[in-house]
Order: sequence, then structure tokens, then C-alpha cells
Amino acid sequence: MEKLIKILSGIVEGAFEKCGYERNFGNVTISNRPELCQFQCNGALPASKKYKKPPMQIAGEVLEILKDNHIFNDISLAGPGFININIKDSFIVDYLNDMSKDRKYGCPESSNPMTVIVDYGGANVAKELHVGHLRSANIGEALKRLLEAVGYKTISDVHLGDWGLQIGMIISELRRRTPELPYFDDNYKGDYPTKAPFTIDQLEEIYPAASFLAKSNVEAMEEARMATFELQNGRRGYIALWKHITNVSIEDLKKNYSDLNVEFDLWMGESDSEKYIDEMVNYLKENNHCYESKGALVIDVAKETDTYTIPPIIILKSDGAILYSTTDLATIWQRVHDYRPDQIIYVVDKRQALHFEQVFRCAKKTGIINENLSLDFLGFGTMNGKDGKPFKTREGGVMRLQDLIRLVQDSVVSKLDRNKAYSESEIYDIARKVGLSALKYGDLSNQATKDYIFDIEKFSSFEGNTGPYILYTIVRIKSILRKAMEGKVNNIDKINEPYSQTERELMLKLSRFNEAVEFTFLEKAPNKLCEYIYDLSNIFNRFYHENKIISEENLKKKSSWLSLISLTKNILETALDLLGIEVPDRM
Ligand code: ARG
Repeated sequence: MEKLIKILSGIVEGAFEKCGYERNFGNVTISNRPELCQFQCNGALPASKKYKKPPMQIAGEVLEILKDNHIFNDISLAGPGFININIKDSFIVDYLNDMSKDRKYGCPESSNPMTVIVDYGGANVAKELHVGHLRSANIGEALKRLLEAVGYKTISDVHLGDWGLQIGMIISELRRRTPELPYFDDNYKGDYPTKAPFTIDQLEEIYPAASFLAKSNVEAMEEARMATFELQNGRRGYIALWKHITNVSIEDLKKNYSDLNVEFDLWMGESDSEKYIDEMVNYLKENNHCYESKGALVIDVAKETDTYTIPPIIILKSDGAILYSTTDLATIWQRVHDYRPDQIIYVVDKRQALHFEQVFRCAKKTGIINENLSLDFLGFGTMNGKDGKPFKTREGGVMRLQDLIRLVQDSVVSKLDRNKAYSESEIYDIARKVGLSALKYGDLSNQATKDYIFDIEKFSSFEGNTGPYILYTIVRIKSILRKAMEGKVNNIDKINEPYSQTERELMLKLSRFNEAVEFTFLEKAPNKLCEYIYDLSNIFNRFYHENKIISEENLKKKSSWLSLISLTKNILETALDLLGIEVPDRM
């Protein structure tokens, strides 16, 4: 469906044109004085400069044409030449009734849908999923759902960190602990066991121990580097161990991400780029894109216009080892080859901005991508604790995501109304959904690029701009609808003209759902959708407190109200779904 504001703009633009002025002066916006009017057009002011006529005269001519249009209820001149617009209730209501019937509640599909790879998640194999990965998962998932909502084809990839030093650390630690395993025996020619020599719990103990040792002991670090190098060069036993490590980890990660309501099409990782590295390096060498510097293979990516230093990107280290930049470049190589995307969006911690700037410049400069592919970095800020430092456990360690989820769920459950009888399974369902809403909405309602403070009390509160407040609003509507069904009022399919100003405001807000989705999509800013959701919830709650829906005796009114709140519920649920948030039936 065409956006309401666009329909209005079209009409006013037509009037400007009819009067001999340029169309675009007729652009209509939401009124910034809602007590005076619903919409406004200020185009007569800039037009007066261009046509050297008083703005009031221009606005007056335009108004003369608009006066007869059946959409407007009241249209008038104000101030130095503004046009104030109020539209007829019947028009809003028709628009809402059309929205109710539309599968996507009025959200249009893009006329030029693209194929976009969304690279988010970014978990590292063998390391626990921790709060640092939460934002990537939340924002990336929301972005993917938004792109799909406007008709784009998306391919989501978790892009695991599965090829780096942490694997070498684990392998050398295993070698210290269990040197007798066949993986370390160069003369072993048979098949390796199919079962991993460790469980996820053991792995979670082995990695921090290995990492601690490597960081405090030069020899251990050297061993880890060597093991990484040998792994990347295909040493049989190490490849077999690496497969065990990734399999055990991925199984656990899949569960973790699914607890967050986050799903990936591809479970690929840095290691999947390995087979393209030789081909890519040859290409770079043959086309003289790189040169040798202190034994390493590098490419300059700085530009004269740079205002800060962008160092050359290192493709291979002097010992031939690959780096994070190498795998990211080779991954682009592979993605172009396999998926022909129009865009790749990386949702990663903003502290990696320089890395991506280097990678993107290099990919463009060397022709790894052509100008039709756009590479975009969506860098997010840090989730901090109340002390303003990155969120930690009480003991000062990195908080595991699972622990954080449990903490939020407990906080939510403690706020539930104990007078309601919840069954065991219902409590579980509520804790999961409401807890997740607290966590996700608390995160997504902040501008992605900014740091924010994770305040568990605030995020899990049932009041204010929080996930639980929004869910509570929807649950309230569900409860009214349930009661109405019991009372056998079930012709809830048509909305009538509003009976009050609050109701009219609710209607206008609902009519702007497609606008909110489009804006959020264009800005890649889920916080904009949160703003819409919060405003809509507030207006609905005002409407709810002003009216007694269930006991309303005028059946026509009651049925219209039920239709209206049912649409409100559907829109709120659809919007939350775009953010990856689910709604319980009761809470
Ligand atoms: N594994 C990385 C980390 O934990 C994030 C990966 C982001 N994606 C990418 N293509 N580099 O920092």
C-alpha cells in the first residue's frame, strides 16, 4: 500500500504543479503542532524565493485547488505561508480497513529487491558466547528480518571465528595433557576416532586454561602459533582435532543462538575461506596489487584524502601465515563467486572499523569486487555495566550469554503477578519470551553505534520504554479480545470513524506503520522501529484507560473498537517479530 503521507504529498504536489510551480514544493510532512493540525506543507516558503512571490499568495493559490478535494476535512493557511492539513476521518478509517486486510499491514515490497549477505553473530569456536556477541546477534537478526520484510533476498552467515590462534592454543594444550592420542602421532596412518576426545564442558575448561598459559608463557605461545600454522597448512591430525572442536562447539552455539531467537542460513566460518586463499593471493600477485615489506605481503590502501592513518593491509605474514584480514578478503572472494550478492553488511563491534575499512578498500582497489557490490560496515557500541565499563560478572569476568539470559529471566519472573495462577510450563514460556524482550528491546532501542548501559532493573521493568511494557500492552489487548469472544461479539472486521480525539490519534499512528518500517529499513536503525512501537503502545494505553471496551453497550461501537485494537495488536506483534521478539498469551 502507498504510504498515507505519500498519498497526501501526491495530491498537494499536483496542486502546486497546477498552479505553475515545481511539484516537489508540495511535499507533506507530519505536523509539528499536532494540536493545530495533523499534517502540513511548508513548500510555499522556498517556492516564494524561487518564483519571487509572497509565500501567502502561493499558498493561497494552492489552497484554492485543494479545497475541493474530498480527502481533506479542514485545510487552512497559517503563519507566513504554511498549509495546515486535517484529513477526513472516513479516509483514515478506509485506509485502516485496507491495512487490516493486507497481509503485511500496508508495508510495500521494494520495487528493486537486492540480494544481501548479512554477516553477523561472529561467535568464536571453543570460546563461550559472551555478552560481546549479543549485540551482533540482536541487531543482525533484526536487520535481516527488516530486509526480508521489504522483499529483499537475504543470506545470513554466522561467520565463525574457527581458524585462528585459539584453535592452536587448544591443540597444543591437548598435546600437553594427552600426548598419547593418535592426533599427535605423525606415523599414524589410520582413521581418527569419530567421537571427540572432549565434551563441550571440558572444552570450556581447556580453552581458558590454554589461553591463560599462552599469554603468560612465551614458549606456550610459540607452540600455539606453530600448531595454528600447521593446522592451516593441513596437518592431518590437527585437522581432525579441529573438526572435533568445531563440531562440539557448533552444536552448543546453535542452541545458544536459538535461545536468542536468532537463525542463520549459513554456518560458515573463517576456515571456509582457506581453499580460496591461494587463488586469491595468486591473483593479487599476478596483477601487481601487492608488494613485499619486511618479508610480508602487503597492499597499500591509504588515500590522499584520508584524515587519519590507514596502514597497509597485510595479506600474508613473513612466515606465510594468514591473518584476520586474509580470511575476510578470501571470504568476500568466495561470496562473490558463490552468491553474487548486491550487498554485504557486516554487523560487528565498531572497534573493528579500521579492519573493515582496510578490507573494503583493498577489495575495491584490487577488483576482488566490482562497483555493483556494496560493502557496508554496521559497527555497534559496547554494552556497559552501571560503572560505565564493559559489562562483567560480579567477579569481574566476562559474562556468559547463557548466564545473562537467566539473570534477566529471573528478574522478569520476580515481577509477575503472583495472584494469577500460572502453570509450570506457562511460567517457563513467559520467562523465556518476556526475558528475551527485556534483553533485546533494551539493546535495540538504543542507537546501534552508541555504547549503552545494561541496567537489568530498568530493562525488565513492566513500565517505561521496555520490552516487558510493550509485551504487557499486547497481552492486555489479547485478554480483551479473549473476553469479547466469550461474550460472542465476533464480527470484529470493520473499523468505524473514531469516537474521540485519542482514538483518532491511535488511528493515525497505526496508519503510519509502513512509514516506520520503511524508515527503519532505510536507516538500518532498529531503534527507529522501537520508537514507533513505544509511541503506539502509549497511545493505545491512553485509549484503553479512557474507554470501557468490554462493557460498552453500543454494539456497533464495541465491534469497531475490537477491530481497532485487534489491528493494534497485529501491528505491534508484526513490529516485534521484525525485531526477533515473541509475545506470550498472558503474563
Ligand atoms: N569472530 C569475530 C570476533 O569475535 C567477529 C567476526 C565478524 N565478521 C567478520 N566477517 N569478520 O571479533
